[in-house]
Formats: sequence, structure tokens, C-alpha cells
Amino acid sequence: MDSKINTLNDKLSLAYLGGGQQRIDKQHEKKKLTARERVDYLLDEGSFEEIGALVTHRTKDFGMEHQKFYGDGVITGYGTVKGRLIYVFAQDFTVFGGSLSETHAEKICKIMDLALKVGAPLIGLNDSGGARIQEGVRSLGGYADIFYKNVQASGVIPQISAIMGPCAGGAVYSPAMTDFTMMVEDTSYMFVTGPNVVKTVTNEEVTSEELGGASTHSTKSGVAHKTSSNDIECLEDVKTLLSYLPQNNRETPALFDFNFGNEVRSQLSSIVPDNANKPYDMNEVISGIIDEGSFYEIHKNYAENIIVGFARLGGRSVGIVANQPMFLAGVLDVNSSKKAARFVRFCDCFNIPLLVLEDVPGFLPGTDQEWNGIIVHGAKLLYAFSEATVPRVTVITRKAYGGAYDVMNSKHIGSDMNFAWPSAEIAVMGAKGAAEIIFKRDIQSADDPEAMWKEKETEYAELFANPYSAAERGFIDEVILPKDTRRKLIKAFSMLEDKYVERPARKHGNIPL
Ligand code: HXC
Repeated sequence: MDSKINTLNDKLSLAYLGGGQQRIDKQHEKKKLTARERVDYLLDEGSFEEIGALVTHRTKDFGMEHQKFYGDGVITGYGTVKGRLIYVFAQDFTVFGGSLSETHAEKICKIMDLALKVGAPLIGLNDSGGARIQEGVRSLGGYADIFYKNVQASGVIPQISAIMGPCAGGAVYSPAMTDFTMMVEDTSYMFVTGPNVVKTVTNEEVTSEELGGASTHSTKSGVAHKTSSNDIECLEDVKTLLSYLPQNNRETPALFDFNFGNEVRSQLSSIVPDNANKPYDMNEVISGIIDEGSFYEIHKNYAENIIVGFARLGGRSVGIVANQPMFLAGVLDVNSSKKAARFVRFCDCFNIPLLVLEDVPGFLPGTDQEWNGIIVHGAKLLYAFSEATVPRVTVITRKAYGGAYDVMNSKHIGSDMNFAWPSAEIAVMGAKGAAEIIFKRDIQSADDPEAMWKEKETEYAELFANPYSAAERGFIDEVILPKDTRRKLIKAFSMLEDKYVERPARKHGNIPL
């Protein structure tokens, strides 16, 4: 028996060594952790159980039968993060550059199946040279098997992808179909075709970092939801993100301990300036409302005119969508609509209530926006809110103008509770522009057109630049003092806890993609 146990131990020791010490050293030189170190850091100490440590590839071409490494370039298994079950795969760059073979894909699919059957989040740590070149179409088939399972799992279990090295070619489409993509700065990149192909096809000279680094994807493309400066920070981000999410779509996120007490926040009363054209930082409103320090922002540096992220309110996980007057006056445009729509749909999939903080002057005008399809992209956000069945609450802090008023979780599209601050202006448009249009003749024929314009602007503002016409019609449930907002929201979300909405039977809706 001893010799048999030794055989097993020898095999496992080899598996733990991946592609060997030299390649591990190389990985460290690049300031990257190994796959095994990443898994160890992510999971609670001692909780990892590996599945398939002794799997090897089946390829015989190109002398591959003489190059076998246990695990075949990916570590798969399950364990806990802060006591909660998760499934994980970590690609091992020290084995054939973490490239994906048929068996490597089978290992990932096996834990995806388990995660889906059991109902627990799936975390993918990506670090791979793409398709195993020696395997040809078998590798492509493996990718497609993973893509298919990503889609089957979508909206059933949370799927999080951390990109911690190369991720190129078709391989990018698995992370793209998961719920969140995190990237590590300087050591990770994602692109469909690399710099060499770009040069050949378009004659553009571009580096990997410029083409698909963390900074590019977190600011320009929106592919990355979050970036971090190193592997440890990235894994910490994954753990924190998980704390806001339920295990699956049949559960709700964990409630944190909270005792309702003095929830008055006087600092909220002095944030919105009297001058409606002056910007202010919506982050101050957010931090004045939520449980202290609980905001976890998604897409921080992309489409900054809208803020999205998770927070806790009275210990409850909520998804926040907030216009940001500091950027482009908080308008809705193509990118902010896409960003917010995706976030709203995620929250709705996983029973996370939605809080909307609204200060929006409308949709951004111009050829750039129209030609890039603001109609269809704006419709995404409208659609996403309209179909969401989670508890939904809006607070209008200042402007709620035009179509954007409807879109930003208005009562008309199914919001449950709509509050407005006394500073709210709920109207078709700003008073100045409105006066110019409807009193055009009076202004033109006046002795002093400027004075007349001002007079009409004041007249319009008095009538509409306030929350009261909307409150009279019940479009706003209550006009509240800013200092009471936290208290009102905690109570509203608690009241809505058991909200249940039956939807008509259909295969699926047809969101304007
Ligand atoms: C097999 C691979 C590999 C691959 C890397 N290796 N990529 N083996 N298939 N795709 C091996 C290398 O031979 C090397 O082996 C080890 O991994 C490390 O690679 P290096 O090149 O030494 O590392 P580095 O200099 O850091 O460069 C990393 C890299 C480069 C940029 C990823 O290796 C590279 O360009 N690889 C090929 C990328 C590629 O074209 N992939 C296919 C894309 S198409 P040794 O033995 O020396 O350690 C695709 C289609 C998917 O993925 C479609 C899905 C629908």
C-alpha cells in the first residue's frame, strides 16, 4: 500500500508544480501569481478541493505525447469565500501558456455543470495564450462548449471573470458573456486580434496595452468593469463583489446586521446648489444615503455621466444607478445608457433591489449620438427598467427633464416608490429653453427681448421647475427632505421586501440590442 500511496503523492506533487519551477519563476518575474497561488488567495484557507488534478491532454501530434503536465493548464475545483461556496477555474500559464485544449475545456465545463446544478457562483481566473495550437479544431470546440454553458448559466448563477494575463482571439467571448470582467493593470490584455494582425489589416501601429489593456477596456470600450493594480487587489475585488450577490437567482443577497436608529443625515441638505446649472458630485449624495463605506462602484471610469454600483442600505444589498451632474451635466448618452442597462438587468436577474438617484437634463443631442444609435441604446435602459421586477425606488434630487424623466425609473414604467427633494424640477425641458420655444413671438416682438425671455423663463420655472405638479398627480409619492432620505429608503426597501410580480408567459422579450 505504501508504494501505491507514494505513487499518488508523486503524481500530485508533479501536478502542484504545473509547468515546473523555471516557468513559475518566469511568472513571478512578470509580477503575476501562479494559478495555484491565486486560487489559494481567493478562497478561505484550507477550503479548496481540487477536481481533475491528474487530467492530461490526449494529443499525439507534434510530439505532444511526450509533453504531458498533470492538470493540463487549468486548476479547477470548489471552495468557500467568506464561508460561501463557489466554483473556480484558474488557467495555469506555466503549462503550454495556459492554452486551452480539449481536456482543459472539459475540466472547465465539468465545474460549470456542477455550479449550475448546485446553484453557486463561478469564478474564472484567465491567463492563457488562447487555443492550444497543437490541437486545432478540438480546441475551438472546447471554447464553444464553454461559451454555450456561459449562456445557459447566465441569469442563473453569478459568473465573474478575472483577466490576469493574456486573453486573446475568440477566448475573449467567454469573459464577455459572464456578468463581470475584472482586469489587472499592466499584466493583462484582451483583444479579438492582436497588434500584428491589426498592423497587417489596417496598417495601424498599436501596442497590446493600447489595444486591449486594462486602461483601454475600463475607459474606452467598457469591456472591463473594474481594474486593479495587481493580482492580490484583483482577487480582493472579486471577494468584495461576491459579498453583494446571492448564490443564484432563487436566492436574495445576504442581509447584514443592522439596527434602525437615528438615520437623519443633515449633510444631504447642502449638496444641491441653488443654481440649477451648477454641477455637484452625486457621490456625496450616495455616501450620505448608504451604510458607511459600502459603495462598490462598477465601470468607474467608463461613461462617467452615470454612476452604477452596489451598496448596502440598512444592511441590504442594493444596486444604485445615479446620474452624475459632474460629467456632461449627467445627460444620458449611448455609453451611459448601455452601462446602466446592463447593470439594471444584472440586478434584476439576481434579486438585488434598485435605487435610482436622478438629476438628468435629458438625452445628449447631436449627430454623433444620433448616428451612433442613441435611439436604440437609450431604449435599452428604458427596456431594462421596464422589465425589472425587483423592488425599485427613485429619488429625484434635481432635474428630471424630458424623455429621460420617463426612462430613469419613473412611476410610469413600474417603479414602486418615487421620492423627490424640494429642489426637484420635473418638466419637459429646462425653463430657459422652454420659454424660448413657447414664447418665441412674445420675445421677438418685445422692446427688450432679453428681459421678456427672463420673465417668461421665471414664469415657466415657477409653474414646472419643482416637484409639485408631479406630486399632485401621484407621479411622485412623496416630496421629502434630503436629510430624511436614508430613513425613507431603508423603510421603503423593507416594505418592498416581499414584492412579487408575475410576468406574462413568453420565451423571452426582445430587448433592442
Ligand atoms: C500552445 C502555447 C500557446 C498556444 C503559448 N504557448 N501560447 N502553446 N498553444 N496558444 C506556450 C509557448 O509555446 C511557451 O511554451 C509557453 O506557452 C509560454 O509562451 P511564451 O510565448 O514563451 O510567453 P510570452 O512571451 O509571455 O507570450 C505569451 C503569448 C504568446 C503572447 C500568449 O505565447 C503567444 O502569442 N501565443 C500564441 C497566441 C495565439 O495566437 N493563440 C491562438 C489565438 S486564436 P514553453 O514550452 O516555451 O513554456 C484563439 C482562437 C480561439 O485563441 C477561438 C475560440 C472561438
